[in-house]
Amino acid sequence: MKKIPQLQQKMAVALLGGGEARIASQHKKGKLTARERLQLLLDEGSFEELDMLVHNRDNATQEQFPGDGVVTGYGTVHGRLVYVFSQDFTVYGGSLSEPHARKICKVMDLALQNGAPIIGLNDSGGARIQEGVVSLGGYADIFYRNTRASGVIPQLSAIMGPCAGGAVYSPAITDFILMVENTSYMFVTGPNVVKTVTHENVTADELGGATTHATKSGVTHFACANEVECIQNIKQLLSYIPQNCEETAPVYPYESRDERRPALNTLVPENPNQPYDMKEVIGHIVDEESFFEVHRDFAENIIVGFARIAGRSIGIVANQPANLAGVLDIHASVKGARFTRFCDAFNVPLLVLVDVPGFLPGTDQEWNGIISNGAKLLYALCEATVPKITVTTRKAYGGAYCVMNSKHIGADLNFAFPNAEIAVMGPKGAVEIIYKKEIDAAPDPEARMNELVAEYTEQFANPYLAAEKGYIDEVILPEQTRSKLIRGYKMLENKVVNMPRKKHGNIPL
Ligand code: HXC
Repeated sequence: MKKIPQLQQKMAVALLGGGEARIASQHKKGKLTARERLQLLLDEGSFEELDMLVHNRDNATQEQFPGDGVVTGYGTVHGRLVYVFSQDFTVYGGSLSEPHARKICKVMDLALQNGAPIIGLNDSGGARIQEGVVSLGGYADIFYRNTRASGVIPQLSAIMGPCAGGAVYSPAITDFILMVENTSYMFVTGPNVVKTVTHENVTADELGGATTHATKSGVTHFACANEVECIQNIKQLLSYIPQNCEETAPVYPYESRDERRPALNTLVPENPNQPYDMKEVIGHIVDEESFFEVHRDFAENIIVGFARIAGRSIGIVANQPANLAGVLDIHASVKGARFTRFCDAFNVPLLVLVDVPGFLPGTDQEWNGIISNGAKLLYALCEATVPKITVTTRKAYGGAYCVMNSKHIGADLNFAFPNAEIAVMGPKGAVEIIYKKEIDAAPDPEARMNELVAEYTEQFANPYLAAEKGYIDEVILPEQTRSKLIRGYKMLENKVVNMPRKKHGNIPL
């Protein structure tokens, strides 16, 4: 019976990764090990490991570690199957060798074949330097699989250590990125190269830390205070989404009760220039405590996130009047478009809350491409075939009216609050253009302008012209919003849309 102790001995070695000293050094940096992270992520006792005994390539000069710097396999989160890989920084800094890449590709193939999410916990010094081009090939094998799986199974990337060079492009292709404050960073070229090429002095954290990517670049969707919070966010995110593009998200138990929300009647200020927090509106509409914001700290003039209505998942895209008056700019458009496309790919119905004065003017926006970037949001909402409901809480002006899930681009239900203003432009701007001569000629131009603005507001800044045309299906009391949405999504449950035959669309990138 020498065989069993032999196996046990091999497994014991593999479980230690790079050894006690390197594990201690990982802990000293405030980081968990690859296996500790999986323990936190997966349901207790559910993890089944694959390829524990895969070795790094034979190289007399290299120390040998079974597992080769990545722990892979499958398990469950809240009882639902997921595939995982977790890079082990204690083995060659989690760097990616050819066998390491093969292990990741194997679980990616299984995830795609069996229709379940793949979750990557990244903590790696990049390409295994000793291996050269085979390591680069390993990365490319992963990128190819990320792309093939895109829109078929959800792909989540947690960055829990270094992630540099071309290695950043696997997470970038996945659906959601989560980073950990102070211990993770992502960049294509590090601070030293930056210094040589552009003479900028910047730390790794400033260049590509969690806060930087959560606020400036938008590369990460979540900046988490620590690894535990990061893993909790992954689990919560999974609760809103289906296993694959053929399924729908899990439905949570819900008991119907009084669905009126009288607080909504007074939440939106009468004065169109007074800001309010759209997140408060969301809080009154969705199931209690169910709103899970994505991309919270980036382009705060638009809000995106998941929630539940009567136990069912929805994706929310909402203008935020409390930030830049809810104007649409480049970042807001890209943020809204990407989230919309995720929801559409994975059968999550959309709710669009509209209070938008228009697109942000200026050379910065025009020269950086507000035209093609704004078109992304327009394209994404046009293209989405999931149930789509719009609630206009206040302003819907100009092109932004069309873009924000108007009836014309395929919204199924369009509701408006009684104080909604749906017009080509705001009263002041409109009057300045169409009555310019009359105002200039008036004995008191300012008084005449105020009169005309009041007339225009009375005549055009309301939801009734749109309702008369059927572009708004119903002008509702704000307190009815939740019940209208519950019934609306139920009514749309079996929605089927047949798209024209095509290879794929050409979203303006
Ligand atoms: C092999 C590596 C390694 C690598 C780290 N190690 N990176 N081994 N290949 N890429 C090893 C170290 O030798 C060390 O081994 C252990 O991992 C821990 O590394 P430390 O340097 O001690 O850790 P730390 O101080 O935390 O620094 C981590 C680090 C640094 C910032 C990641 O190691 C580093 O800069 N590594 C090189 C990064 C890099 O240039 N990678 C290639 C990028 S190009 P011991 O035995 O002492 O424990 C790339 C292209 C991808 O990735 C392209 C895809 C298309």
